[in-house]
Amino acid sequence: MSQGAQSIPNDLNAFWMPFTANRQFKKSPRMFVVAKDMHYTTADGREVLDGTAGLWCVNAGHCRPLITEAIASQAAELDYAPAFQMGHPKAFELANRLVDLAPDGLDHVLFTNSGSESVETALKVALAYQKAIGQGSRTRLIGRERGYHGVNFGGISVGGIVANRKMFGTLLTGVDHLPHTHLPAKNAFSRGEPQHGVELAEELERIVTLHDASTIAAVIVEPVAGSTGVLIPPPGYLKRLREICDRHGILLIFDEVITGYGRLGTPFGADYFGVTPDIMVTAKGLTNGVIPMGAVFTSSKIHDAFMTGPEHLIEFFHGYTYSGNPIASAAGLATLETYKQEGLLTRGAELGPYFEEALHSLKGAPHVIDVRNIGLVGAIELEPIAGEPTKRAFSAFVKAFEKGVLIRTTGDIIALSPPLIVEKQHIDQIVDTIRTVLGEVD
Ligand SMILES: Cc1ncc(COP(=O)(O)O)c(C=O)c1O
Repeated sequence: MSQGAQSIPNDLNAFWMPFTANRQFKKSPRMFVVAKDMHYTTADGREVLDGTAGLWCVNAGHCRPLITEAIASQAAELDYAPAFQMGHPKAFELANRLVDLAPDGLDHVLFTNSGSESVETALKVALAYQKAIGQGSRTRLIGRERGYHGVNFGGISVGGIVANRKMFGTLLTGVDHLPHTHLPAKNAFSRGEPQHGVELAEELERIVTLHDASTIAAVIVEPVAGSTGVLIPPPGYLKRLREICDRHGILLIFDEVITGYGRLGTPFGADYFGVTPDIMVTAKGLTNGVIPMGAVFTSSKIHDAFMTGPEHLIEFFHGYTYSGNPIASAAGLATLETYKQEGLLTRGAELGPYFEEALHSLKGAPHVIDVRNIGLVGAIELEPIAGEPTKRAFSAFVKAFEKGVLIRTTGDIIALSPPLIVEKQHIDQIVDTIRTVLGEVD
């Protein structure tokens, strides 16, 4: 019996899969059973090149020895320690290493178990901080259209993807949204940062004028909006948001769940754009996607505002059973070590130009209406089939998988984010496969 056949469960019904077309999947399942470096192996024994780092998270490639060994030995040594009122050394060590890696000024870390939890944590820190400094009227949160901040209530409230919001009632009150920065009529086929749209940052001034600064706690944006289909801001846009926030006492939160840990060719998006937020939300690449973990960075100004009152009292009523879990912390430390030993956090800068050239060679391929890229993230936008949005891209995804390449689609956009260990021949294979597939889809 093949390894794959042994691993196929006999009933797919019970597992209600996340963000998946369940009925389509269960009719013709796509199962991975093994992974190594840049490749998955399917249940029927085929190799599939990973063009998406799993779900934008396996930045160092799959089943890397330092990480798998660290997890195994930590599980055997200290499996769990209570997260509240107790500690263990590795969580502190990881927080220190993270602070060393982060932009100057982000000096403290709260641990979570996912990007969604990191977002909730960041929003709660922002609200509680404003209250702690006597600005309790600042309760509004500002997100951005087409933003993705996970799936919890705070995250979908500040998020701007309608399908993720419309089924879930009125969400958080007191939320407003900036416009997104996607201007295809002006910016299609831009390489790196697109030229047009910096003026869209001024919309924040309009929102401040509408609500008054005294009611606004924080603005949250992804430096590059990922899940919605890779929307790259024009030069100066994030700097302008920073200036407007500073002028009005509003905190700036960067959601770096995708842009963090090397995706843009710098450790964080904040480094790429030269803009430091007050709070930085991360997850995914923190542990190479292997063990669920998130980290929320804050400035000392924010942290210190809570460190008042009697010392035996809890300063911030928030946290998770698994915050800083020993095995996740060990995975995080080994991941950072792997990034460091192999120079992965800046590899995107070296390979970026090759990736860009390869991606833009798809201009003129059937159905392609835009190609955009930054660091090792890229998008190929397809003309939707009239009356059947998402169908063309989804069928490209299935065909690419059958031809041995994992891509990701969102709407009619193909998004690429290979592991940072990707080589030029892998980039060629990804792009050649997409070209072939685009010639085959309706
Ligand atoms: C920018 C951003 N924030 C938050 C999340 C949510 O992360 P998770 O799925 O780990 O909850 C994601 C996931 O893709 C993301 O891209």
